[in-house]
Amino acid sequence: MCGIVGVIGKSDAAPVILESLRRLEYRGYDSAGIATLVDGTIDRRRATGKLQSLAGELDTAPLPGSLGIGHTRWATHGAATTDNAHPHATERVAVVHNGIIENFKVLREELEGKGTRFSSETDTEVIAHLITGYLDMGKSPKDAVAATLGRLEGAFALAIIFKGEDDLMIGAREGSPLAVGYGDGEMYLGSDAFALAPMTNRVAYLDDGDWVVISRTSVQIFDAKGTPVERTVQVVPVSAALVDKGNHRHFMAKEIHEQPEVVGHVLGHYVDPAKQLLKLPEMPFDLAAIPRITIVACGTAYYAGVVAKYWFEQVARVPVDVDVASEFRYRECAMTPGGLALFISQSGETADTLAALRYCRSQDQHIASIVNVTESTIARESDHIFPTLAGPEIGVASTKAFVCQLMVLAVLAIATARARGAIDADEEQRLAAELTAMPRHLSDALHLGPLIEKLAQDELTDATDVLYLGRGASFPLALEGALKLKEISYIHAEGYPAGELKHGPIALIDDTLPVIVIAPWDRLFEKTVSNMQEVMARGGRIILLSDRKGISIAGDEATAVVELPDVDPFTAPILYAVPLQLVAYFTAVHKGTDVDQPRNLAKSVTVE
Ligand code: F6R
Repeated sequence: MCGIVGVIGKSDAAPVILESLRRLEYRGYDSAGIATLVDGTIDRRRATGKLQSLAGELDTAPLPGSLGIGHTRWATHGAATTDNAHPHATERVAVVHNGIIENFKVLREELEGKGTRFSSETDTEVIAHLITGYLDMGKSPKDAVAATLGRLEGAFALAIIFKGEDDLMIGAREGSPLAVGYGDGEMYLGSDAFALAPMTNRVAYLDDGDWVVISRTSVQIFDAKGTPVERTVQVVPVSAALVDKGNHRHFMAKEIHEQPEVVGHVLGHYVDPAKQLLKLPEMPFDLAAIPRITIVACGTAYYAGVVAKYWFEQVARVPVDVDVASEFRYRECAMTPGGLALFISQSGETADTLAALRYCRSQDQHIASIVNVTESTIARESDHIFPTLAGPEIGVASTKAFVCQLMVLAVLAIATARARGAIDADEEQRLAAELTAMPRHLSDALHLGPLIEKLAQDELTDATDVLYLGRGASFPLALEGALKLKEISYIHAEGYPAGELKHGPIALIDDTLPVIVIAPWDRLFEKTVSNMQEVMARGGRIILLSDRKGISIAGDEATAVVELPDVDPFTAPILYAVPLQLVAYFTAVHKGTDVDQPRNLAKSVTVE
């Protein structure tokens, strides 16, 4: 949830760390800090708010030293103040931490009982004091860290530096990701390969329980028992150029506009263009034989899973359960052995989704994941991964990853249907052709940008609440549309199944409430229009998202309409994601909120 980086280099470390932290800002941006070793002594700069504040601090008071650690924070314990910002340090040691130390209260009381004074409210500070205590007892840095790790409960990734040790840094990983970067006479630690990309593309990922001792020329990795272990050094294809905003004002805008292209990548991977048939790699389970599918994910990825439930059940006739990971993991759900447990995650590091995966592993399920970051923990713990191929997603609000998740899920639903004999080769070909047309349709939908910008300005910017309605697979789209609007514009929004309206939420409707109706022309269209009329009869302002036919039938009655290309009902959820993203984006831009880094959110949620 926070981002950490460590550098043992040849020249000043602080500018390199700052550049790396910029890439990690997606993980948190409440405050940031850097500590280096200056003539053997620990010195640090910390600042609240975004990285610019820390950069300003460093301009005024530069930090020399070729060894250092840095942190960008998403607050868990203690408010976003300078005192709570990392690195946390004593005179002898400085620590940056991502994760949560669950037993920190007990440890803090124990240390305070021995006279230790704390200067922050964080859980992390206990780590600095514990290590210092062991150093004071005469232990070496390595032994002091090993002893400290044995006392910590919870999830953490750590990078630690020591007074007087100019060629030593120690990292540790338990539950939160940490990678070692190999340079030439330089070594690095970072939360992910993306952070390390400006320095190196040679990276080894630590496993849970691993800790690592690095110098400028050596890397020694140990497992939880202290046994030396090898972890494969991989060459990671992350191009530094990929974090550029291009001509766009925000990463979110760039990522929305990349969708036709990245969906093309998904098609290239999963569909044979000549035969218009699916091409799925061999899987360690038989889609024809699985008795049940359980889909687990969080947030936007969960909504992709809800869309997929409609697809799998309608097209493949296979029963599907779908749940949010934070509920699923503690529900102790009874599972049919041999089922397929499918996890959806952009980052592949979401703590709740990972815990759910581990539960399913204990329940004799086949474990597959749909992930964007293929080197992530969820990917590595799966029996099989389906990459989403969206490329790095930097905007905190997920856009292109969602659409790519839907594409992959659509492919899987068709493949499952075919494997079970629920559809024949002609139908597979027809649906594959519909998917193949998606880049073109998405591109057409993007041309609606100016119209949606005006609509957002006229109808939504001043709204305090917005309701989204849909039926069938458009219902999860309503949920996703409402989530997008909430998270980046801070306008309260709710998604509802259109038919459920009269069971309560209809009481909310008056002439100040914009109601966005997602209604492609399909077998449920007439029913959705009836619900739309119930809203209009009570003064609600309808914004109708539909196609030519739908708008010709119901458009006259709406306050505003957005006409989307005609597509098959099966692929409509993929297409209708685009106007919903644009609605949220332009509303947020007009409100002047921080689109790419909305308040209180982080891109990668590695805590419960
Ligand atoms: C919303 C959003 C979040 C994520 C959720 C899961 O725009 O981005 O709701 O979808 O935190 O994250 P991943 O997909 O990384 O597991």
